[in-house]
Amino acid sequence: MKRKGSAVESSFDFINPVSRIGTGSLKWERYGGRDVLPLWVADMDFRSAPEILEALRRRVEHGVFGYTVPYAEVEEVVCDYLKQRHGLAADHRSLHWVPGLVPALNVVCRAFGAPGDAVMTCTPVYPPFLSAPRNNGRELITVPLRRDHACWRFDFESMEAAVTPKTRVFILCNPHNPVGRVFEKEELDELVAFCDRHDLVLCSDEIHCDLILEPERRHVPALALSDEAARRTVALYAPSKTYNLPGLACAYAVIPEPRLRAAFKRAAQGFITEVNCFGYAGCAAAYRDGEPWRRELLRVLRGNRDLVYSFVAERIPSVRIHPMEATYLAWLDFGELGFESPAAYLERHGLGLSEGASFGESGAGWARLNFGCPRSVLESGLERLEKAVAAL
Ligand SMILES: Cc1ncc(COP(=O)(O)O)c(C=O)c1O
Repeated sequence: MKRKGSAVESSFDFINPVSRIGTGSLKWERYGGRDVLPLWVADMDFRSAPEILEALRRRVEHGVFGYTVPYAEVEEVVCDYLKQRHGLAADHRSLHWVPGLVPALNVVCRAFGAPGDAVMTCTPVYPPFLSAPRNNGRELITVPLRRDHACWRFDFESMEAAVTPKTRVFILCNPHNPVGRVFEKEELDELVAFCDRHDLVLCSDEIHCDLILEPERRHVPALALSDEAARRTVALYAPSKTYNLPGLACAYAVIPEPRLRAAFKRAAQGFITEVNCFGYAGCAAAYRDGEPWRRELLRVLRGNRDLVYSFVAERIPSVRIHPMEATYLAWLDFGELGFESPAAYLERHGLGLSEGASFGESGAGWARLNFGCPRSVLESGLERLEKAVAAL
């Protein structure tokens, strides 16, 4: 669908594939020169919203690219976005800008407690949740999410059994990568009660919060749960997943509690670079003008998700999928086929997925498929998947 008509004269094209060869794309370079279709790392193959492209062009035209601090316009746009979209009354003083949420996860692990202390998270989960504690001299405690019928939930009993007096931080992914859950208020309240009982900082990575595919579901920010929750929360946000801007390296932590904010700042000092001028310009344009594009994107992603569901159910029934409430990532269960490393096998058959085991032990036998691409590309990926499974 090419369509006209948002605030700026624009047309959104989610149909025609854009070649990313030769642009240094992490996603495409991994299999450079080989016939492997990359549906792995979480970036999408769509061009950004025209309004974002225009803002970046204006920034290029200015022609001076010096060190850049967070300026009033971008702070106002972000505070407005948090208020309007998520009901959060954030003050610009509670924002801490970072060039990515992976660095922020590492800063959180350094900021609280001391070497030898522990950080807990639930698996399967985005791999840097597992490496950040170890990178920073912390013990990693993982507890598998529990599958309750078709729904993934926290296993509070196992979490109580695994937590130690040295545990300082719990890292939450909500909406969840890779299982696609949008956690409900009651579950999050229970998680906060768990953090209260054990005096844990709750690091809530909400990077996928604007990619909710179920129209009737709403994202519940950790900071909105209660004042007590907000006092122990470091919330992580970025426009990068939703608006497909990860290469612009712009993200931020929202930390209302001054004591936590000071600790975060100290741990980041000297390690974390400034955000660059394009990151701020892209972020401001995305939040201010990107809503029509985002709405259209969600429509396309819902269609792609439904295609993944129906194709796999009808043509590859030995592969299982759980319902995905959010993100453009499908978490596929290859357990019935009996392989430990499905992604390694599929790569040999021309399809590049993310290996489930990299999301924690409980991910072994699974793989993650990124459906944030034009439908024709997804169709060709699913056909490769079907052929690969048939060749077993
Ligand atoms: C949950 C989660 N956090 C963080 C990131 C990466 O963030 P950044 O590119 O800002 O480092 C991703 C990317 O897929 C993610 O899924």
